[in-house]
Parts: sequence; C-alpha cells; structure tokens
Amino acid sequence: MLSILSTVLTFLALILIPCLFISRRLSVPLISFTNIRRLINVAASQCDEEEESGTSGKKEKQERLPNHVAIILDGNRRWAKKRGQSTEEGHEAGSRKVIKIAMDLFTLGTKTVSLFAFSTENWGRPEDEVKYLMSMFEKVLKSEIPYFQRHEVKVSVIGNRTNISESLLGSIREVEEGTMSYKDRHLIVAIDYSGRFDILQACKNIAKKAKNGLIQVEDIDENLIDKELMTSCSEFPNPDLLIRTSGEQRISNFYLWQSAYTELYFPNVLWPDFDKAEYLKTLTWYQQRERRFGRRV
Ligand SMILES: *[C@@H]1O[C@H](CO)[C@@H](O)[C@H](O)[C@H]1NC(C)=O
Ligand SMILES: *[C@@H]1O[C@H](CO)[C@@H](O)[C@H](O)[C@H]1NC(C)=O
Repeated sequence: MLSILSTVLTFLALILIPCLFISRRLSVPLISFTNIRRLINVAASQCDEEEESGTSGKKEKQERLPNHVAIILDGNRRWAKKRGQSTEEGHEAGSRKVIKIAMDLFTLGTKTVSLFAFSTENWGRPEDEVKYLMSMFEKVLKSEIPYFQRHEVKVSVIGNRTNISESLLGSIREVEEGTMSYKDRHLIVAIDYSGRFDILQACKNIAKKAKNGLIQVEDIDENLIDKELMTSCSEFPNPDLLIRTSGEQRISNFYLWQSAYTELYFPNVLWPDFDKAEYLKTLTWYQQRERRFGRRV
C-alpha cells in the first residue's frame, strides 16, 4: 500500500512540477487539457532547439515553431467604428497590443517578428490619420527603448526613408542604435514599406554594383537578391508564418519575394482583439501544416 502511494506521489512530482514550472515560465494558464498538450508541444520543440540538431526527425520538430512571424496589422479602424470610437482610438488600441503580442511570440520561441505598420499605399489615407500614425510611431519607438533594452530586443525599421520626417527619423535612429547589440529577439517594423519597393531598391543596388564592375551579371542569383533586400537585417529573412488579422485574405504588397513558401493565416479577428489565446490557436494550426516548401505539391 505504502509503495503504491509513494509511486503515485513520485509520478505526480515528476509530471506536475515541471508542468507548473513551464507554465509559469511561459505564463500560460494550466486550465485545460488542450493547453497542457500545447504546452508540451511548445516545450518539446524548445528543448529540441537547444540541442544540436542531428536527425531529420528532430529537424522536422524544429520546423513546427516559426522562427520568423510576419503580421499585417489590420482592423484598427473597424474595431473603433464598431464601438463608436474615433480612428485614432482604434490605432491607439492597436499600438498597445503590438508590443505585448510581439513579446508573447518571443517567449513562445519566435526569433524574428515583422510588423507591417505602414504601407507605401497608406500615404493615400486622410492626412490627419497619416499625421497621427507618424507621430504615434515616433512616440512608441522612443518611449519603448528602455523596454526593448530590458528584454534584449533588437529593433530594425525597414522601408523607404525619403519621405519620413526628420523627427521620426531621429526616433528610428535612436531605437536602432540603442538595441543593435541584441541577437536573439529581433523586431522588424515596416514603415513606408512595400514588397515591390523592396525588390525595386534591391534591383537598383545590384544594377549600380554591376555598372561599377563590382559584380558580373553571372553573379546575380537568389542569394544575391536575398542580401540586397531589406530583410537581410534578420538572421531569418523569410517568414515561416504570415498572419493577417480582420479576415482579409491578401498580402497587400507586404513581403513578396520573402513569402514564397510562407504559411498564410487569416484569423477573423480585428487586430486590437488579437491576443495570446488567438496566437496559440494560430500556432496549433501552423504545427498541423505539413511544410512542403513546394517539393511534393
Ligand atoms: C510624402 O508624405 C506626405 C505627408 O507627409 C504625403 O502627403 C505624400 O503623399 C508622400 N509622398 C509620397 C510620394 O509618398
Ligand atoms: C522612395 O520614396 C520617394 C518619395 O516618396 C520616391 O520618390 C522614391 O521613388 C521611393 N523609392 C523607391 C525605390 O520606391
């Protein structure tokens, strides 16, 4: 009798204590079996990542956690309208979510998070809204520098800088310089960015190098283009997973070259309502996808 009891107690200690520990670390409530299953999946893939990868089985498990997640932040305006609030309040609510979700993603093992904050096409929005968004970027980037430093998040801003105001450029430089030494967590913010713009500027750089005799036409290959794209600032330039909130199913000129093999996910949730539970759902969906990279299609 005593030995059965001690077996049961040992079993509980071996299973429950690590579970509670992991749950505390990931700050996910241990409320349901599905959550426990997710936790075990996530923990297993995190352990795998810490080991040297050897067998192909391990490699496959590794692929189930996205290294790079790109997000098209959509639905702030609709969210505000539904509540009878102003567009600005919608963007404000959306911006409060951004840093929180990015941190959740990092905690769950993602290394690079890209945010499509302002597209080249967004210049066509009402002047007041554009002005508001620009001053919001300036404020958020600047005020969050101590937070990024505390959590060791490297921040890079990509996009066309020619039409960006001096004061926003100042904040961009400040946040980039203040966080450039960090390696494990990388936040990429796309402002006045578009996929076509990125490919265009890469072409121009390559043409200049060819004209100056630095490279030959025969040297131009996919690798070289990868290096000239603005995402070359990341260790993982191509997103494994792209999320666009609010139910719209378009890439809208975000990463074009980089999304060739990306899993695309379109949750029917407006951006300010996207939370960690939604991301866990996304992750479960992602882990069930067989990542073929076009090989067996
Ligand atoms: C440059 O920015 C201004 C607002 O600051 C905007 O009205 C204009 O459309 C932008 N120009 C281009 C070419 O994007
Ligand atoms: C960058 O923006 C400027 C001004 O908005 C524009 O004239 C220029 O063509 C853009 N560059 C590229 C490569 O699209």
